Amino acid sequence: MSEHDISHPVFAAVYDHLPDEPVMGPQREYLTAGLCGRVLDLGAGTGETFPYLKAADGPLEVHAVEPDPHMRRRAERRARAVGVAVDLRDARAESLPYPDDSFDAVLASVVFCTIEDPERALREVARVLVPGGEFRFVEHVRGDGWRASVQDGLTPLWKRAAGGCHLDRDTVALFTGDEAFSVLELERVDAGVFPAAPFVRGRLERRR
Ligand SMILES: C[S@@+](CC[C@H](N)C(=O)[O-])C[C@H]1O[C@@H](n2cnc3c(N)ncnc32)[C@H](O)[C@@H]1O
Repeated sequence: MSEHDISHPVFAAVYDHLPDEPVMGPQREYLTAGLCGRVLDLGAGTGETFPYLKAADGPLEVHAVEPDPHMRRRAERRARAVGVAVDLRDARAESLPYPDDSFDAVLASVVFCTIEDPERALREVARVLVPGGEFRFVEHVRGDGWRASVQDGLTPLWKRAAGGCHLDRDTVALFTGDEAFSVLELERVDAGVFPAAPFVRGRLERRR
């Protein structure tokens, strides 16, 4: 294993045992509502979104990337348990193993807090989406005022305990400032607990 490998066995085990549905259930329903066609789940973790993809209305071809083998093993198990066919690959969001215009939708849930190079990852999302395709996300972001200062101070320690997660990412500015996308929807949602809050969710359209 090289020092650049992503491998967080303890975090993966803890993450897998956290109650997901009460906080993230409504967000995962939002991410997956009305999807059809080819869908990519970016940084799928333990596969918590898979049951919602299974329940989606339209016919779906589900793909996912997850670079941490401890997360990926759990995601494979969850896909089997819920009976959803997922083409799950060992890859990073910054370098997606798909040709241009591959997907009708790309989903990201609490993953842009962790990706090492979010700008590069967003360029990849734009590249693999078909023109008119949707990037849907739910992410925790840097707050305001004293909360932001606490998040800035805590991030170095938090990153080490929480699998590389940053509390201080200005993800909204990144997403809304990218010319490859137009904003369809963006809102703050009542999810998460400080310091991993506030949460935002939204839908961006890949410009045609
Ligand atoms: C907090 S977990 C979220 C997992 C899942 N998306 C969910 O909603 O539960 C963040 C995930 O991002 C993954 N990750 C870290 N760096 C990544 C990268 N460069 N590209 C894609 N995924 C990455 C981690 O391994 C981890 O599984």
